[in-house]
Formats: sequence, structure tokens, C-alpha cells
Amino acid sequence: MAAKIPREFIQTLLGRINIIDLISDRGVPLQKKSGSNYFASCPFHTEKSGSFSVSQTKQFYHCFGCGVHGNAIDFLIAYDRLNFPEAVETLARQIGLDIPREAGSHTPTTPAVSPDLYALMEKISRHYQQALRRHPAAIDYLKQRGLTGEIARQFGLGFAPDSWDNLLRTLGTTPALREQLHTCGMLIKKDDGGYYDRFRDRIQFPIHDRRGRIIGFGGRIIQKGEPKYLNSPETPLFHKGNELYGLYHAQQAHRKLTRILIVEGYMDVIALYQHGVNFAVATLGTATTPGHLQQLFRHTPEIIFCFDGDAAGRTAAWRALTVALPLMTDGRTVRFLFLPDGEDPDTLVRKIGYDAFLQKLATAEPLSQFFFQSLAAQVDMAHLDGRARLASLAMEHMKQIPTGIFQHMMQDELARLTRMDSLRHAAPPPTPRKSAPPKTANRPLSPLRLAITLLTQRPALASTIDEPLPAWEGRGMDLLQKICALLHAQPTLTTAGLLENFRDTESIYTILAKLASIPLTIPEDGYPAEFQGALRQLHRQQRAQTIEQLIAKAKSAPLNSDEKATLNALIRSKN
Ligand code: UTP
Ligand code: MN
Repeated sequence: MAAKIPREFIQTLLGRINIIDLISDRGVPLQKKSGSNYFASCPFHTEKSGSFSVSQTKQFYHCFGCGVHGNAIDFLIAYDRLNFPEAVETLARQIGLDIPREAGSHTPTTPAVSPDLYALMEKISRHYQQALRRHPAAIDYLKQRGLTGEIARQFGLGFAPDSWDNLLRTLGTTPALREQLHTCGMLIKKDDGGYYDRFRDRIQFPIHDRRGRIIGFGGRIIQKGEPKYLNSPETPLFHKGNELYGLYHAQQAHRKLTRILIVEGYMDVIALYQHGVNFAVATLGTATTPGHLQQLFRHTPEIIFCFDGDAAGRTAAWRALTVALPLMTDGRTVRFLFLPDGEDPDTLVRKIGYDAFLQKLATAEPLSQFFFQSLAAQVDMAHLDGRARLASLAMEHMKQIPTGIFQHMMQDELARLTRMDSLRHAAPPPTPRKSAPPKTANRPLSPLRLAITLLTQRPALASTIDEPLPAWEGRGMDLLQKICALLHAQPTLTTAGLLENFRDTESIYTILAKLASIPLTIPEDGYPAEFQGALRQLHRQQRAQTIEQLIAKAKSAPLNSDEKATLNALIRSKN
């Protein structure tokens, strides 16, 4: 990771970029509708109506259809599929600024990777591909595994001959090149300072990053031998815990990925692709990490895990589930596909073909189902104790789910499960449960929420605050105070800029992004009065609270003179 980009710089960028131009430049036909709002058909989901709105003043976009939203940086992350630093880089380039880096920041810094190394990896891959052509045994192996020449070319499969110095001799012709090959993990250094090839007598699978650059290799032994697969070590290019084999190819095959399948092996990805299931990725011999999932959710709303149907597979699936829970913000789906005994995706798709495989995929269990069934299997659902235990087990995990509709649905489901069984023992059958109405629409906003909403939508209102905010404790009040402090320090922030400050606090970011897009029924010129009204109510609530506390206290012990004076003043004050 490169050194941290200073926050002020990001704010400068957001202040100088026009999100309307940024989005229009990418071919989204924005049309001006009302005031400073532009609309178009949403580029992130399929629709005919124009639910995608972009606000010039807020510098913020929001889709009323699928719920995506964000500022210019979010747009680049979602639309151009960049990561955060890449998005910042793109914006900076666009307005001709260099990115300053914070010296001595807390994040560990690694030197930027020289472009030479990527070129070298490319060369190595070509070398292995050529070697494959000269080794019939390796070609036979691939054929026997059912791969066509075409798919082998598409995935750049090659062969590392059975030699200690094949790569060393052909590409490591100078000391500098040998050092580079070593840096890329392709050569191993001996005690005497010499080198030898890491990959020998193996089918070579190049591993691409999201931009299609080769960053490492996986090598599969074709005879017997250990290990079956050898992967590149951690290098400046290759970080195993972040990379997903096949993501680049899946991305190339789809403009928009509606779902991504996570499988275990290289061969699974390739066999699936050959049979038309061209949206599978594999972790590289590691369990799925939050980093993997975060990355995948940038490309797709739905992730399907594929596991063996045996006990080990279910344990692995449960582990994946616990990694996914904290990332289950609204709109995201996770499902689990368990394969028949003894099959992996590679063998299965070759046996049953594309159509049958997709049908299997359609039967993948939703996260909620797998979650509750796994827990229910651990308790005795026929008894109250067992159901209580289920509830406490479930709650423990459900705390991890971000606040939102999905968490609500899980809570409803838990309530239904723990209650339904008690009904099953009584005579009448359970009555169908009406689904809870969505909780956002039409509900009047509390003064606190209204104040935060107005500030998010029109940050300049912060300058109209003329007395200290009430100081009671609680998440919402903390947030209001934090926002006001920020806007006091940076009075020119737009909605986009304000939100940017909370990018690293996902829970707050999500809340604010939602509030920033709530359509308010108040006319725009009524915002200041409405904001003052909300603040007055907050002060009133604070007074009422203090009065109550003092009266309660007075019942157990006499108040001191200060407290008496406060109470008198509070009771007498009229608003
Ligand atoms: P598996 O052992 O399940 O093999 O490893 P597979 O994918 O079915 O391989 P084939 O079909 O026999 O060729 C699954 C994944 O685990 C990692 C690799 O990424 C592999 O694709 N792995 C496995 C290793 O990294 N090292 C190993 O020794 C074995
Ligand atoms: Mn296999």
C-alpha cells in the first residue's frame, strides 16, 4: 500500500471536480430536471425509467431504484471498478494535480512496484506458454483434464520444464535480471548466493490482477509429487490474501456481473469458464478474507460460495458466513451451493453441463437459510430451552450485521423460528406473517435525524448554529456534534466532501449517505427555518431530560443550591 493520501487533498479534489461532468463523460446521458438535479437511467441496474439522480450542489449521486449512492470517488470505484487510491489518482490526473503523500503515516508503506516487474512477469508467462508447446506430456495432461487449446490460451496456461535452471538460464541473463526474477518470486536464492527455479515440472497458471497484469503463478504438478499446487510467494506484486484467481477474466466477460461464484481451485474456474459459467473466481489456497469479499462486492451484488457437501465443506462455509456477516449491507446477497459428495465444480460441470449447473446454482441456499439451519442443528428446537439457546446463539452473530433491512429480516426470521415451533405444538397452524412495512418511507423524522439530514443535504446550514449544541450522550447526538465540528473547521464542504470524512467509518458513512438522498417534503428555502426548529426541539428535549433527572434526584436527597437554581431556571424558561 502506498503512503496515506492526506484528507485535505481529497477534499480539494472533491471541491474542484464536477460530478456532473465526471458522470456525463462516461457516457451516462444526464438530463437536467429540477433545480440542480440531473437524471438518467441508472448505469448500475437495468431499468427504463430514470431513477438515477445526480445533484450538482450536493456533488452526490443516488439511485431511487437500486439504492446506489456516493460522491465522485464512489462513482469511479463502482463504475470504473477502481480501488480507492486509483479513484483518487484518476481525479487528480483529471485536474492536473500530483498526489502528495503523508510522510510517517501509520500505514506501512511499500515502495511502488516498478513497471519492469510486470513486463518481466509477462515475459515469463510467454516463456512458459512456449515451453508448453514443446512438451507433449503436459499438453496431454491438459487434454485429459478436458481442456481445449482455446481455453488454455485464453487463461495463458504454460509449462515449467523439469529443470533447476530453465528460467534462470533463459531469462536470468544478467545479475540485475536475476535479482528481479528473485523479487518476483520466480527464483529461489541458495546459501552460496546462486539461484534456482522455483517452479519445476509444473503446469503454470498465470494469476492476473484486476487490470490484467500478471502478478504471480500457480503451478500444478503433473506427475505425483508434493505439493500438488505451488503458488508464488508474497512479493511486491502478489498478496495472496487479496487476490482472486479468475476475477479479471470474469470482469472481461461481463460489463456488469450480476453474481460471482467463489470456488476453491484454479481448475474449477477454468473448467467452469469453458462450459460457459464465466463468472467464477477462486481464492488462492486460503480461506476467504473480508478483503476478498469487499473487493467482490464492488463488482457484484451477489456472491455464491461453492463448497463440498461434506462436514469439512460445511465448516468452511460457516467460516465464510461469519466473514460475510459484517459486510451484509442492504442490497447484497450471499448464497451457498453445496456440491454432491466427491464432486468439485470442475468434475461436476463437465459431467452435467452448463444448463444443469445453472439449475443447481439456482438452488443455492440463501445465507439466512444456511445460518438458521446450522444453528438449529445445534439445539433442540422442540423445547423452549433449545429455542432460547438458538435465539442467543443467533443474536450473538446477528450483532455483526450492519443495521438495515437485511438485519431486520434476519430478526423477523429468528422471531418466526422461535415462535413457530411453539405454535406447532399447539393446535392451530401458524398464521402467515405479514411482512413488516419498509421502515423508511413517510415516517416523520425525529428532530435529531432531521437536523443531521438537513446538514448532510445542505452543509452550509452549520454556520447558522448560534448556541452550543445540547450535550446529551447517544450515537445520534455524537454524530451531530461531530458533523458540526467538521463543518465548523471546513465551512465550504459539500455533501460529497462531508461524507468523504466518514469513508473509513462504514456504519456512519452508510447512514449519512442514506440521509443525503432522502427526498424532503420541505421546500428548499424552508431549510434554514426547519433546521432552527429542529435545534430548538433538541434543546427542549435536553431541558426536559435535565428537569426529570433533578426531580428524580430531589426525591431521594435534597438538592444543593446550584441544582435548585438550575431546576428553577429550567422550569421557568418558556421554550
Ligand atoms: P484441491 O486439492 O481441492 O485441488 O485444491 P483441485 O483444485 O481440485 O485441483 P485438481 O482438480 O486436482 O487439479 C484446491 C485449491 O487449493 C490450493 C490451490 O489453489 C487449489 O486450486 N492448493 C491446493 C494449494 O495451494 N496447494 C496445494 O498443495 C493444494
Ligand atoms: Mn479438482
